[in-house]
Amino acid sequence: MLKVDICCGLAWGDEAKGKIVAKLAKSGHYDFVCRWAGGNNAGHTVIINDKKYFTHLIPSGIFYGIKSIIGPNCVLNLKWFKEELNYLKQNGFDINLIKISPKSHIVLDKHIEEDKQKLYKSQGTTARGIAPCYSDKYKRCGIRAESIEELKEFLWDEKLYGNVLCEGAQGFWLDTNYGNYPYVTSSHTLPYDACSLGFPPQYINKIYGAAKIYDTRSGIDPDFPEELLKDPKLLSIADKGQEYGVTTGRRRKVNWLNLDKLVKSIQISGVTDLVISKVDILEKVGLYKFIYNNSIHNFINLDIMKQSITKIINSNCSLVKNIIFSDNPKTF
Ligand code: IMP
Ligand code: MG
Repeated sequence: MLKVDICCGLAWGDEAKGKIVAKLAKSGHYDFVCRWAGGNNAGHTVIINDKKYFTHLIPSGIFYGIKSIIGPNCVLNLKWFKEELNYLKQNGFDINLIKISPKSHIVLDKHIEEDKQKLYKSQGTTARGIAPCYSDKYKRCGIRAESIEELKEFLWDEKLYGNVLCEGAQGFWLDTNYGNYPYVTSSHTLPYDACSLGFPPQYINKIYGAAKIYDTRSGIDPDFPEELLKDPKLLSIADKGQEYGVTTGRRRKVNWLNLDKLVKSIQISGVTDLVISKVDILEKVGLYKFIYNNSIHNFINLDIMKQSITKIINSNCSLVKNIIFSDNPKTF
């Protein structure tokens, strides 16, 4: 019987999902690594033998010789796909492992143009044509991968077997329903949408939730006002944490971890294993704060802050079995 694990983002993307997926994929346990949402608006960083690799579209299973599926709820830009294929090929990875759902939708030039003209400025999108493409999909006038001749050799037979790892893109608070609409992306970032790959929810085993010990936001969002970019403490976290977008190169806005929001995203996502990354960055800056019950809490050191986070999560999120704090960009 199929066994599915999921890794999802619990914040606004950029929570080091790539690191978690890489470590899980490396274990040799999985037969498939699958993306279920989004397109090349995402950016996944994986470090192998001290070399950094980036993908935006193709799941990170490819780095570990695992079949890598782009699912039916994903959107795909042909030019970008070919560039990523070349990049992976040049770096010695086996591109025959990449399969695309025939039902995934194609991002056309006109989608990118519309995004650039209308949404990039007003909403701070990644200008990758995401919203216009999904819009055509739901207007039922889109173009699917199955009708593209050049993609024939990559089309997935829509079969899954063995152990499956589903790799989330973006994060909980960018989901069309849960995020600060309209400052959201146009896909569903929560684990339930992984079922669009073609398995029932009962097959889901573990849900790895990725979070960071401070919050970041790339793109426009009134919940992350411009003033955040003037706070020297938050700016030093941004600098030490290298908070620049993998996809856009934009500076991300940083704020203290909002635990009210994190608790909610863990609860609704059904997280069983929580990984909170970048604790080393707070240690470098020497500031230990989070927001809880809508007010800022201060701690004298990292250990006490971690204990407090653990206690709050354990008492509010009954499905969580493991909480890991990670101070290493390569693993956890
Ligand atoms: P879109 O997905 O390009 O339409 O962008 C919509 C919003 O989601 C913008 O605020 C983007 O900055 C944000 N966004 C989309 N993808 C990512 C991601 O992978 N990481 C972080 N933010 C993202
Ligand atoms: Mg990312």
